[in-house]
This record gives sequence, C-alpha cells and structure tokens, in this order.
Amino acid sequence: MIYIGSAGDEYAVEADVGDTVMAAAVRNGVPGIVAECGGNCSCATCHVWVDDEFTPLVGPPGDMEEDLLDMAVSERRAGSRLSCQIRVTEELDGLTVAIPPEQP
Ligand code: FES
Repeated sequence: MIYIGSAGDEYAVEADVGDTVMAAAVRNGVPGIVAECGGNCSCATCHVWVDDEFTPLVGPPGDMEEDLLDMAVSERRAGSRLSCQIRVTEELDGLTVAIPPEQP
C-alpha cells in the first residue's frame, strides 16, 4: 500500500489481507492517520482520499461511515473514505491513498 502525505511524502507499507488500511498505517508509523477511536467508525480522524484508480475496487462507504464523512471531515472528495473501514484484499495490492493535511 502507498500512503501519500500532504507534503507529497510517500510511505510504502506491507499490509496483510484482512488488515484495515488504518491499522497498517498506524502499525508502520505513517503520519497523519490519527485513528483516535481505534477503528470504531466514530472519530473520522483516519480519513483518506482513495486514488481514482482504486475507488471502484474499494467501493462506497457504509451508512455510518457516510454520515461521519458528511459531518466530520474538512474536505470531502469522491474518494473520501475512513481508512479503518477499508479491509485489505489481494485485489487492493498497490492501493494508493492520500492523507489530508488535517484530521478533524
Ligand atoms: Fe476512528 Fe476510523 S479510526 S473512524
């Protein structure tokens, strides 16, 4: 997986199938993914922008996530997702996400 920081800094991380995109980032010290609630879909501090190429593979947010994205993130875009709600699969090999400059 590749995480791109707001300054253009890139972090390539090995993630296991079944991991969440948030957990892989936190475990590997990727800055900018705060994950205050620990993955319970209640803080929105794990917001990322999924690269266009991967948005069809990642799929849309669930209902609870949708509400949080609407209310809590500073800049919602088409690829906005909460990274704790994205499970890593074989298909997502090479998944690239950008990290917003600020988390709520
Ligand atoms: Fe809190 Fe994802 S870690 S919503």
